Amino acid sequence: LLLIATGLSACNAQGKRNSQTGSGNASSDFSPDIEIELTAQPVAMQLLDGPKTNVFHYEARLLKGSDSNLSEIQGSYLGPIIRVKHGQKIRVIFKNNLPRESIIHWHGLHIPPEMDGHPMHAVDNGEQYVYEFTVVDRPGTYWFHPHPDKITGPQVYRGLAGLFIIEDERKSLPSGDQDQPLVIQDRSFNSDNQLVYVEGSPMQRMQGFLGNQIFINGKKELTQNVKKGTYRLRILNGSNARIYKLAWSDGSDLKVIATDGGLLEKPLNKPYLILAPGERVEIWKDFSATNSGEEITLESLAFSSGTSMGRMGSGGMMGNMGGGMMGGNASFENGEAMHLYTFNVTGEEGKSLGIPQTLSEIEEIDPVNAVNYDTPKQFHFYHERMNWVINGETFDMEEVADWEKVKLNTTEVWQFINGDDGSGMGMMQDMMQLPHPAHIHGLQFQIIERDISGMDAEVWNSVKDGFINQGWQDTFLLMPGMKVKVVMRFRDFTGKYIYHCHNLEHEDMGMMRNYEVLP
Ligand code: C2O
Ligand code: CU
Repeated sequence: LLLIATGLSACNAQGKRNSQTGSGNASSDFSPDIEIELTAQPVAMQLLDGPKTNVFHYEARLLKGSDSNLSEIQGSYLGPIIRVKHGQKIRVIFKNNLPRESIIHWHGLHIPPEMDGHPMHAVDNGEQYVYEFTVVDRPGTYWFHPHPDKITGPQVYRGLAGLFIIEDERKSLPSGDQDQPLVIQDRSFNSDNQLVYVEGSPMQRMQGFLGNQIFINGKKELTQNVKKGTYRLRILNGSNARIYKLAWSDGSDLKVIATDGGLLEKPLNKPYLILAPGERVEIWKDFSATNSGEEITLESLAFSSGTSMGRMGSGGMMGNMGGGMMGGNASFENGEAMHLYTFNVTGEEGKSLGIPQTLSEIEEIDPVNAVNYDTPKQFHFYHERMNWVINGETFDMEEVADWEKVKLNTTEVWQFINGDDGSGMGMMQDMMQLPHPAHIHGLQFQIIERDISGMDAEVWNSVKDGFINQGWQDTFLLMPGMKVKVVMRFRDFTGKYIYHCHNLEHEDMGMMRNYEVLP
């Protein structure tokens, strides 16, 4: 507790100084435990057979710390993986060698607004931004990626993303090579092995990018040998817009041990899991009793995403446009079955562990303490005039509406609604309905209600067992017609953070807003 308190005050001081200078400079009175230089730059990589692929990559250099703090994923555009401990002080020097502006967002971390990668802090080619913060979050799987206004989607797609793992102190969980990340992404390549994005395809941009090839941890290899032992799989959906319905090919339940914000209280058994872009989930998998030579596959099952294109529906204009514009090589809707990753069980003995029945303690936020418990703020995510909007608004760098202002040290309930508020455009809005993964920066919240009364029954039936309402989260999927209430506390830092749809094309189109924590 003492550590946390010290960390927070250090963070506060740092955040304030930077907001005055606005430059993200290194400060002499911050002495980091870990210091890393991350340079975002274009490189050509051998990802496929044949020509190299032009990607963007974070080149990492450890300036202070131990080797365990930083690891690259060899042969991958993805990474690095940064491993830290709760309470440590981190300095990251971000250098931008990309052709366009960029900035890094630390997805899921509770840090001051100046450290959070707000698009207003984006730096140009040749410039740098220095992050200094203390790790106050729970152990868990967090991640980082670019966040410049309107061009986050293409930068993440070209390869920029890495993991930020806050390590557990407890010893009863799989470790070493039996604790491993699985970052799931989808990509499309042309015949020259170059990445294909949504440029020139306004309809795919509206839907969000959907690739036709799965990449795991930034590589095309979709199989791996595993020992007879127990694994902890840290799964991140790092895709721009694709939603997965995760399931094991052997029909066993997924044993969920953690969500976005770390370990659950108890393991949770799920027949399948819906994982939207930005979300993390940790799965316990025991291969100890599996026969050598057996293969177990993590699959994505088919589901109904509730995507509706109204009068431009699949049989009409959209369907025809889809094939032509995509050259017939990419799918055009979320929900198709896909093979994700195969574990090939070898004869090698690994470490076997029993699953702990108590994983952690979670302090429940009592929504009754919320200042707006009786009248939760409502956030409508919908389509209007070929734009994705929140309560009718799109992103403005500075703007904060009244309903986006909160007070420090208060608790609030926010209700997110996929659909318009019934006023205004009516039928025009209904023309397009899609799932939206909602993400709030700067904190972890708890889900207190998932109201499905406005959902299509067939859609709900195809996903209903795949949601997790337990634990700490920073991103959740809002299906068409769904209403989700979250409760959160605004603590420690004042200033502007953002919240947005984590379908990165929607985010880039403006489905993002500021919220401001006032003193
Ligand atoms: Cu992972 Cu604002 O995003
Ligand atoms: Cu969206």
